[in-house]
Amino acid sequence: MIKIAPSMLSADFSMLRDELKSIEQAGADYLHIDIMDGHFVPNLTFGAPIVKAIRPHTTLPFDLHLMVTNPADYVEEYAKIGVEYFTFHQETVPHMHRLIQQIKANGMKAGVALNPGTPVSTLEDVAVDLDMILIMSVNPGFGGQSFIPRAVEKVKQAKILLETAGNKDAVIEVDGGINDITCIPIKDAGATLLVAGSAVFGAQDRAKMIESIRNN
Ligand code: DX5
Ligand code: ZN
Repeated sequence: MIKIAPSMLSADFSMLRDELKSIEQAGADYLHIDIMDGHFVPNLTFGAPIVKAIRPHTTLPFDLHLMVTNPADYVEEYAKIGVEYFTFHQETVPHMHRLIQQIKANGMKAGVALNPGTPVSTLEDVAVDLDMILIMSVNPGFGGQSFIPRAVEKVKQAKILLETAGNKDAVIEVDGGINDITCIPIKDAGATLLVAGSAVFGAQDRAKMIESIRNN
């Protein structure tokens, strides 16, 4: 079963509570939350105070995507707020193994994200410990960019990597430029959790778009 995580980055921030209700009612499985620091990526979004403020206003589990240079500094804070997936970028961390253990010790699931220029093979030695591999299908920083087709091949590689490691439970998530068309090859390749920002929040009928991404 394919799960859909609309990205809050494309929501109307002036009415977040209503936006969350809207995607919850439209059939979303997770809320994808993009934390950007203006250093790792050339954009700044929001941090823990906002994530904490919205937590009581939706039943959707939080899928946190940290695009920050120092993700380890935020593990305890987000664990206290209550997030399901804590995903950091491979490119930001010299001690991936340690950080994965730290995330799990704090009761969250651990994900690692890969930029379009970062090979899947960099995760070989932590594959057994991961709860998620996040394949970026755009360069992180902004919503509304075009899907990079090379991501399809990387999803296949991630699937093999996890199988080789004997990890049957980890999720393969894809983020960036996903819509009711680009979702098709990505699902065929083995992705199980799809992020969609502009496609869902920009749709006339959000429920229909979520259903199309799930079933096309
Ligand atoms: C990009 C973010 C994405 C973004 C996706 O840096 O990580 O989650 O919001 O937006 P769309 O689906 O519009 O590409
Ligand atoms: Zn994201």
